[in-house]
Amino acid sequence: MRVLVTGGSGYVGSFVVRRLLEENHEVTVVDSLVNSLRPKFAEVHFYQVDVRDRVSVCAAASQSRPEAIIHCAGLKSVAESVEHPWVYYDVNLVGTLNVLAAAREAEVGHFVFSSSCSVYGSPQISPVGENAPTLPLSPYAHTKLAAENAIRTCAQALGTTFVNLRYFNAAGAAEDGSYGELVTRNTTQILPLAFMAALRQRPPLQLFGRDYPTYDGTAVRDYVHVEDLARAHVTALGSHGHRPQGTFNLGRGEGTSIGELLAAIERVSDLQVPVIDASRRAGDPIETWADTSFAKSELNWATQFDLEEIVRSAWRWHSGPSGKLTAVG
Ligand SMILES: NC(=O)c1ccc[n+]([C@@H]2O[C@H](COP(=O)([O-])OP(=O)(O)OC[C@H]3O[C@@H](n4cnc5c(N)ncnc54)[C@H](O)[C@@H]3O)[C@@H](O)[C@H]2O)c1
Repeated sequence: MRVLVTGGSGYVGSFVVRRLLEENHEVTVVDSLVNSLRPKFAEVHFYQVDVRDRVSVCAAASQSRPEAIIHCAGLKSVAESVEHPWVYYDVNLVGTLNVLAAAREAEVGHFVFSSSCSVYGSPQISPVGENAPTLPLSPYAHTKLAAENAIRTCAQALGTTFVNLRYFNAAGAAEDGSYGELVTRNTTQILPLAFMAALRQRPPLQLFGRDYPTYDGTAVRDYVHVEDLARAHVTALGSHGHRPQGTFNLGRGEGTSIGELLAAIERVSDLQVPVIDASRRAGDPIETWADTSFAKSELNWATQFDLEEIVRSAWRWHSGPSGKLTAVG
């Protein structure tokens, strides 16, 4: 299948692209490279384009004639979205509208979107199913939900199909240490920050809250291996005869406390993670993990990697030569 991947040089996007190539799809990447480096894959058709530039996004789609679009391009820092909400609405919402316009003009029948569990806000009950109330708490989460709604209603009006994938916390790296998460000026993900702190390449890790009503007082999250996420995107493409449709939670379906995660990082790296205690951040959920039964039944998708494999692969990447040379921005 011909597939256009926006944000295809980013963390999740590059794993999706690699998986697509392994399964012999023809891949075009659209990325501004604002938070990533040029894709390494020679087979990929690459357009350095900002999704806010509608004319250029439409041109990339009309030239590459994709049968499906996977839309991963976007900004993902909650804190930055609070400071600069207009930028987040512009990139994540207007950018999505532009990619939808490109899909319409190029008559693309299927659209897969990188959404986020942040659309649920601070869920009262875990596991969180797709029917849980959506109560976004940050501009970032609002832009994700607004983009989802735009995708769904446009697909309904055009008679095309869509899949909104609500990731929980993407983590981990390639098994051979060749790909992983870049550390940029806006990195807020705990795994890269904890490893960099352990390697004394970043300041001590700020731990936001030790007074949560959880078993060790730290917040509980659902970490899912980026390779499992990548596989879900390829599965979400379906085949010519059957395109899946709907909104799916993607996680391991298990909660891990920050304390447990730090213990795993220290065990795997044999280093101590320096930590500074900070107060809880407004809007941070106490505990959240995914109910993935819909993805299992409809996409036939289940995770293959456990927490230990996530942490080990991330450590190989961050401690290896490429992982150390990845700071951009
Ligand atoms: N990583 C996670 O845990 C997580 C969780 C939930 C949702 N998501 C969503 O998944 C998507 C991918 O996340 P990621 O972790 O790979 O992030 P990332 O920052 O590594 O990748 C995003 C890519 O989009 C590109 N990009 C940003 N603004 C752009 C623009 N205006 N025009 C074109 N390209 C642009 C960046 O250069 C980057 O290559 C994002 O939309 C994010 O909101 C990520």
